[in-house]
Amino acid sequence: MKKIIKNGTVVTASDIYQAEILIEDGKVAQIGTNLEALGAEVIDAKGCYVFPGGVDPHTHFDMPFGGTVTKDDFETGTIGAAFGGTTTVIDFCLTDKGVPLKNAIQTWHEKSGEKAVIDYGFHLMIGEINDDVLAQLPQVINEEGITSFKVFMAYKNVLQADDETLYRTLAFAKEHGALVMVHAENGDVIDYLTKKALADGNTDPIYHALTRPQELEGEATGRAAKLTGLANSQLYVVHVTCADAVEQIAEARKKGFNVWGETCPQYLVLDQSYLEKPNFEGAKYVWSPPLREKWNQDVLWNALKNGELQTLGSDQCSFDFKGQKELGRGDFSKIPNGGPIVEDRLSILFSEGVKKGRINLNQFVELTSTRAAKLFGLFPKKGTIAVGADADIVIFDPNVERVISAETHHLAVDYNAFEGMKVTGEPVSVMVRGEFVVRDKQLVAKPGTGQFLKRAKYNTPVIQSESLPIN
Ligand code: URP
Ligand code: ZN
Ligand code: ZN
Repeated sequence: MKKIIKNGTVVTASDIYQAEILIEDGKVAQIGTNLEALGAEVIDAKGCYVFPGGVDPHTHFDMPFGGTVTKDDFETGTIGAAFGGTTTVIDFCLTDKGVPLKNAIQTWHEKSGEKAVIDYGFHLMIGEINDDVLAQLPQVINEEGITSFKVFMAYKNVLQADDETLYRTLAFAKEHGALVMVHAENGDVIDYLTKKALADGNTDPIYHALTRPQELEGEATGRAAKLTGLANSQLYVVHVTCADAVEQIAEARKKGFNVWGETCPQYLVLDQSYLEKPNFEGAKYVWSPPLREKWNQDVLWNALKNGELQTLGSDQCSFDFKGQKELGRGDFSKIPNGGPIVEDRLSILFSEGVKKGRINLNQFVELTSTRAAKLFGLFPKKGTIAVGADADIVIFDPNVERVISAETHHLAVDYNAFEGMKVTGEPVSVMVRGEFVVRDKQLVAKPGTGQFLKRAKYNTPVIQSESLPIN
């Protein structure tokens, strides 16, 4: 059914203006004033911003990790995402050495196909490079539409790859138009420091942070950036937490290397002291890389403002406190790493960023949607409001106040890392391809309505197949 959104303020990464949006066949058909279309439903966005749907390039739904499986799957995870204003996620498809890559991709399709309520794509983990893997990768890019690869530089003996693998992945990506993503921490040294801490009887959650100092994130970030320069390739550093890593990204970019950086809400508003909460509550705040000393938050905010970091991912990777985080009682290295963030990503950036004057509205859209869509081969189908783009739209009330809580979130996980935090600004209604997923803060979509997105190669804009009339 045709829809016209009226009375809202449209915000993209470059513009802010009053306009009406006509939606037809799931796409933005016209943008203008006094729009009319026979039979169109009129949606009143008075007092609200009209943003392009959020693109979250970093989720882990239904993922085996840390001896368990993430609590939120593609159903509850994408429902939470939708309530938070995200209409596209790109999730990490894990692979096993020696197993055909298509098997892993098939597994991820089975996890997501009948569950997602928003659109989604996959990144593919590369754990090893050999002739067999190299022979499979062109098909992953060209037929599966998976155009980004993830290399872990940490999680020794589990997910970690060596430098040869990273370099050869970068070299392959250069030739074939993929974007390489890294989890940048020095896994070997972390492994040593972890064993030493445990041998010394230091088992509490805080030792998770103390055995992963920021120098080890900075070192790995710099190493990956230099290998990218050497291969003349392209790199996206996920979950940047600290000054050491920001400096390395900024230095690489000054040299003209194609290096991009993402941070996440938790690193902007939480800090290392949360890991010291009593009664093992610190386990709720165990991420890798870990939360840092508070002074790093200013560095991250400045980096978002001045463009040294370009995206805000969530790194959604939720585990219940009861029964999952608790696996690490008495041994911090057994606490599953990660937390629930996908639902609050936009609210936190809006409230702490825009409302507090750290970033402007256009930067908010760029950081939560447009840049990720561009980097990951989805733009301009996703990531903007423009004629011909998918009508992925968030009607956002900038003045409503709420308190974040597990009592009210829509994820399945049993706690919220931002419990008690007051935020201003919240999505009211959210559409994917012109259909409401959330309407007036109620879920209206059915599981399975989200579509898998085959993505374009790095630096190749998505050309819209049909031309649509311009008002
Ligand atoms: O602690 C984290 N970040 N968990 C998710 C897996 C990863 O490293 O991104
Ligand atoms: Zn990671
Ligand atoms: Zn992650």
